[in-house]
Amino acid sequence: MEFPQPSLLLSFSSKHKNKTPKNMTTPRHIVAIPGDGIGPEVMRATQRVLEAAGAPIVWHEHHAGVAALADGDVVLPDSTTAAIREHKIALKSPCTTPVGKGFSSVNVQLRKALDLYAAVRPVRSLPGVKTRFENIDLVIIRENTEGLYSGVENVVTEGTVMSMKVATEKACSRISEWAFDYARKRDRKKVTVFHKANIMKLTDGLFIRESAKAAKGYADVAYEEVIIDAGCMKMVQDPTQFDMLLLENLYGDVVSDLCAGLVGGLGVVPGANIGNSDAVFEAVHGSAPDIAGKDIANPLALIMSAVMMLNYLADTEGLEIMREAAEKIKTAYNSALEAGEKTRDLGGELGTTAFTDALCNRITSA
Ligand code: NAI
Repeated sequence: MEFPQPSLLLSFSSKHKNKTPKNMTTPRHIVAIPGDGIGPEVMRATQRVLEAAGAPIVWHEHHAGVAALADGDVVLPDSTTAAIREHKIALKSPCTTPVGKGFSSVNVQLRKALDLYAAVRPVRSLPGVKTRFENIDLVIIRENTEGLYSGVENVVTEGTVMSMKVATEKACSRISEWAFDYARKRDRKKVTVFHKANIMKLTDGLFIRESAKAAKGYADVAYEEVIIDAGCMKMVQDPTQFDMLLLENLYGDVVSDLCAGLVGGLGVVPGANIGNSDAVFEAVHGSAPDIAGKDIANPLALIMSAVMMLNYLADTEGLEIMREAAEKIKTAYNSALEAGEKTRDLGGELGTTAFTDALCNRITSA
């Protein structure tokens, strides 16, 4: 099969109509959101790696976050959500959200606007990355649309504020079904729900009731409920006792970072936000303003998110060429890490560009 020069596949435009290069075997059109902070750096790195692996993609670049504000737009422009609705798939870098003031999170807005209710975050030990535990292979499923993370807050009286934790039967039920369906398809053995239903009897009570109900339809997958504080203690004692975690929104956010710490940090944990019609792939980490613009960010988490995206395209659209590209990228980063080609967050010496060069060289010389 012949493909045009990879560089032709990387045509960016939010303002101009994208053209499909000639002689191309139907490329997939995908939205790219470069985001803020280290976002543009890790996005560039990821696109280079996908290009080296021969993934036939035409990128449509759209902004969100502070980058959109700098363009004179709102934080989540309608054109960005419209483009994702059109192409169904986006690769997204992190967007900054101000702490304690300012606009509400772009990520929360985007997940709600597109109803991307299932966040999937695989947490795995990597070769060449030394951590306290070995052989970690966890998948976190986080409910993405409600719970305390919605940021629905109001002032009750002066000096008293309130945050609303919302749980609906519909959302608790669909995320539970989704998690068990994923478990069965991926041959996972156990789903553990972390909850606090001893205190939040109504909201977390509803969550565990719906997950227990879903579990009944999957006799081949074990189910357990663990109160979240004890769950966190067990997690840092021996993470290998868990297989899949199912959590409401805020718990999923917090526990994802905890688990990232077990396998080498935020630089190595990818993610996907999936709904019934659209999917947005993004790393678990944020925009890391402390290291932005220094060419030291680890692009691996976004690269791994892109690998998830390629496999998703292969699974849902039968694009086997995407799976082949994904395999090449995985082989390249596993062998690079094993050989000590690592960024500084993993104890290596390479910067973002040098690490990306190393991956591209491994892919093209394989
Ligand atoms: P963060 O994940 O950006 O950074 C936490 C720490 O991890 C920092 O020391 C940072 O340098 C390091 N780090 C993160 N990613 C890294 C990478 N790829 N390579 C090397 N080191 C890395 O979390 P923080 O500081 O809490 O949030 C910063 C901003 O990002 C905030 O505005 C927050 O709202 C936003 N955020 C956005 C997310 C998204 O768009 N999905 C997710 C999480 C946070």
